[in-house]
Amino acid sequence: MKIAIMGFGTVGIGVEEILYKKRNPLLKRGFDINIDKILIKNINKKRNPLNKKLTFTDDFDEILNSDVDTVIDVTSSLEETYERILKLMSAGKNIVTANKAVVSKYFEELNELSIKKNIFFSYEASVAGAIPTIHPIMEEVFINDIFEISGILNGTSNYILSKMEIEGLTYDEVLKEAQELGYAEADPTADVYGFDTMRKIRILSSIVYNSKINEDDIFTFGIANIKISDFDFAKALGYSIRLLGKSKLKDGKINISVIPTFVKDDFFAKSFESTNAIEILGENFKKYELKGPGAGKLETADAIIRDLLRILAKREIKTFYGSANNYVVENNLEKNYYVRCEKLSKELKSLISSEKIIGEEHHIITKKVNLNKLIDVIDDFDKVFIAEIEEEI
Ligand code: HSE
Repeated sequence: MKIAIMGFGTVGIGVEEILYKKRNPLLKRGFDINIDKILIKNINKKRNPLNKKLTFTDDFDEILNSDVDTVIDVTSSLEETYERILKLMSAGKNIVTANKAVVSKYFEELNELSIKKNIFFSYEASVAGAIPTIHPIMEEVFINDIFEISGILNGTSNYILSKMEIEGLTYDEVLKEAQELGYAEADPTADVYGFDTMRKIRILSSIVYNSKINEDDIFTFGIANIKISDFDFAKALGYSIRLLGKSKLKDGKINISVIPTFVKDDFFAKSFESTNAIEILGENFKKYELKGPGAGKLETADAIIRDLLRILAKREIKTFYGSANNYVVENNLEKNYYVRCEKLSKELKSLISSEKIIGEEHHIITKKVNLNKLIDVIDDFDKVFIAEIEEEI
């Protein structure tokens, strides 16, 4: 079985490592997996694969025109990788990808193409790293009505939040530490502004509701403005703060958002460092919870290789997605929110349920309000931080 890999960064190295170290147990079960070629950007950069005979190329066409039938994508670019995946799929090659930006943006198109070409488009590694998430919910869709899914889906944000909470460090201090340790990207924008979580909740929600959800319709508010004073305020009320991606189907409408959340329950509140945690509510089992490492070299590579094995063993679920439901995406539920800001407007004053003023800052708990209304009210506010409150106070 010949495969190719696009990208040889952290996760690509992890894929090669597992395939090399586990070659014998894989062979025993009939998986004679050989990496034909690895596509890299800089052919002159020194690489240290465990298998010294591996060949690298910077020419995408060598992979496109090769006889490999499955390509593993561990790149992080969006449009270039999308174009390449399109070409590979059109040429009849299965794709296993960890690239959540591509999977989220082109979800319908790539899934539909895989059906048309009778190949597999597998993306377990795009959400929640090592935690099996995509496949369990894909299976559920046939037999269960899932009506809510929410989770801590970004390891970098969770690392920052839990370190701020426990060690009392500032956002900038923890971000710097996370970058030095290699958790956060040099450009952590997608992580801390919530876009990475937005992509992941878009992918999960599209599967469970079998309905098209545009990225632009997902309200996304990250953690970049968070301060120690927010944790102090939350703690005094018995809460922790975590960044959640969440969606709920109610009365034919999908409420979906990415928003820092005051959490009290142990499941989310006791998720530390780069842990991911996902909660799924459905008709057959009320609720189940998944928790584990949401990022990392071997963790993500593990999810990729599980996809690969399912394809090779012909046990992969045939991609079924068809946007069969046309649910409206609209945040119409009313909730309590926390708002921290420096000045109040008349509209915000009318939403206040309780307020504490510390120094220059107002820490507010709102009455129950629709998220869209709150966003309208704080739209032109500078230095504002908001969080949803998980339970009524
Ligand atoms: N930047 C991502 C995170 C990597 O921090 O969770 C895994 O998708």
